[in-house]
Amino acid sequence: MYEADIASVLISEDDIRRRTSELAEEVAARYPEGGPDGDLLLIGVLKGAIFFMTDFARALPIPAQMEFMAVSSYGSSTSSSGVVRILKDLDKDIEGRHVLIVEDIIDSGLTLSWLIRNLETRNPASLDVVTLLRKPEATKVEIDVEYIGFDIPNEFVVGYGLDYAERYRDLPYIGTLDPSVYGG
Ligand code: XMP
Ligand code: MG
Repeated sequence: MYEADIASVLISEDDIRRRTSELAEEVAARYPEGGPDGDLLLIGVLKGAIFFMTDFARALPIPAQMEFMAVSSYGSSTSSSGVVRILKDLDKDIEGRHVLIVEDIIDSGLTLSWLIRNLETRNPASLDVVTLLRKPEATKVEIDVEYIGFDIPNEFVVGYGLDYAERYRDLPYIGTLDPSVYGG
């Protein structure tokens, strides 16, 4: 499916699976198990992080609970505006909880830095971030991202949750789009 639209496979299914297990082991080693309220709380950022969130949660060798937020950061379809809107907020209070934000990709870092500031006002016991992908721009901003899956080149990528105009999320790997798709 979508073969004609994908210019190259950047990260294969196998590589995603391997790296996800490594990250899960790293994270688990840092959080002691602490009973129901001490469970790690994963906050997945919809919709891009859905597949990473579910695979990461299943790879984690410690109990974790899951919540989701949806935010919108985009003025256009391929670049961040810095204006962030909450489309879906958390259902639960996170005060005193050990929270790990689960992100698909950090590009300019604007969305994430806004999200971190927002969640910090809710007084979690700890707040960290795991992201599957990071683009070069993100290394310029002052955000503390503890766990990073892959550093990727500054290209628009799709698949494994990431979309272009809501398509390609269902690809099992991360690929680059053929310019013909966006009229190039
Ligand atoms: P910022 O720039 O705020 O953007 O760090 C983060 C959000 O932008 C989206 N994004 C992408 N989505 N392919 C995508 O499908 C990409 O290459 C890409 N780069 C950024 C994504 O929603 C992310 O959460
Ligand atoms: Mg996202």
